[in-house]
Amino acid sequence: MRYIEFGPQKTKVSEVILGTMRIWEKTPEEVATLIESALGVGINAVDTAPIYGPSEGKIGAAFALTPGLRDRVWLQTKLGIRKHPRLDANYFDFSHDYIIESVEESLRALQTDHIDSLLLHRPDALMVPEEIADAFQQLHDEGKVLDFGVSNQNVAMMRRLQRYLPFPIAANQVQLSAAFTPAFDSFFNVNMQNEASPMRDDGIFEYAYDHDQAIQAWSVLQHGYFGGVFFNNPDYTELNEALDRIAADHDTTRTAVAVNWVLRYPGKMQAIVGTTRPERVAEAAAACDFEMSREEWYEVYLSAGNRLP
Ligand SMILES: NC(=O)c1ccc[n+]([C@@H]2O[C@H](COP(=O)([O-])OP(=O)(O)OC[C@H]3O[C@@H](n4cnc5c(N)ncnc54)[C@H](OP(=O)(O)O)[C@@H]3O)[C@@H](O)[C@H]2O)c1
Repeated sequence: MRYIEFGPQKTKVSEVILGTMRIWEKTPEEVATLIESALGVGINAVDTAPIYGPSEGKIGAAFALTPGLRDRVWLQTKLGIRKHPRLDANYFDFSHDYIIESVEESLRALQTDHIDSLLLHRPDALMVPEEIADAFQQLHDEGKVLDFGVSNQNVAMMRRLQRYLPFPIAANQVQLSAAFTPAFDSFFNVNMQNEASPMRDDGIFEYAYDHDQAIQAWSVLQHGYFGGVFFNNPDYTELNEALDRIAADHDTTRTAVAVNWVLRYPGKMQAIVGTTRPERVAEAAAACDFEMSREEWYEVYLSAGNRLP
């Protein structure tokens, strides 16, 4: 496993993170086994969120079952996505009081006294940066949250928030996979008049590099917006062939190559893997055991159907 120095605490956090969005059918015993399997291959980081249904509660129950487990894990949760009381839809809430309330609920569910990293989950149009900064400062002073970050935010949003925050935004969690690359597409097609050229995020990858910020890639094996895994998908035959070819050359699996592809981008990259199976956690961790060449990285990008100028 490889590790980055995360946030101002410079905590040693693994480049591969165990995501827990899909553990809703698992028992606390199975969740404990899944977390142990991650720790066994060097993954010391677990990502969750209150909007992932029973995920936080299951992790908390797993901690309660296994003395000492909480202390071996770097724990990240998020906040701000709420179920609308009248509509069959979510809405977003980064108000001061809801930030505090949500963290208190997460601490209870996770059966812990602190969260290592807290992310604002999806941008709230009504967010007031001063309010967020006040809430974060309070949670930090109380020892309830150590580091803070965002998710799915563009550069303008982060710049505005950072003006008021007393600590750096440690991470931006965004969607990225070999089959989901809008940020790279606009990068390659800068100032061109084709469909790939519009920049949708303001340069989040460049911002992260310049600010020593971790990029946490979510859905590293998916295409589209929750479109499913691209493995064995007939729309991605060429991509799967390229992954298998590179996997054979490095004596590894296509999972490891797909995760390595995300981590290969320069800077503090992390890949959140959402498998619920211990054996696949180990396959993903093997992404850190080899170095992908520049030619291989571009082969994956081109095989996913992208064209370069
Ligand atoms: N910030 C955000 O807005 C946001 C949004 C979405 C997700 N996330 C975070 O990112 C994490 C990962 O997201 P994700 O779950 O979409 O990631 P993912 O790792 O791309 O997908 C996991 C899914 O792929 C399946 N899978 C894995 N390997 C497979 C294989 N070889 N063949 C077939 N299926 C395979 C898994 O099934 P098995 O369980 O059977 O292996 C699981 O259902 C989440 O847990 C969450 O922590 C964040």
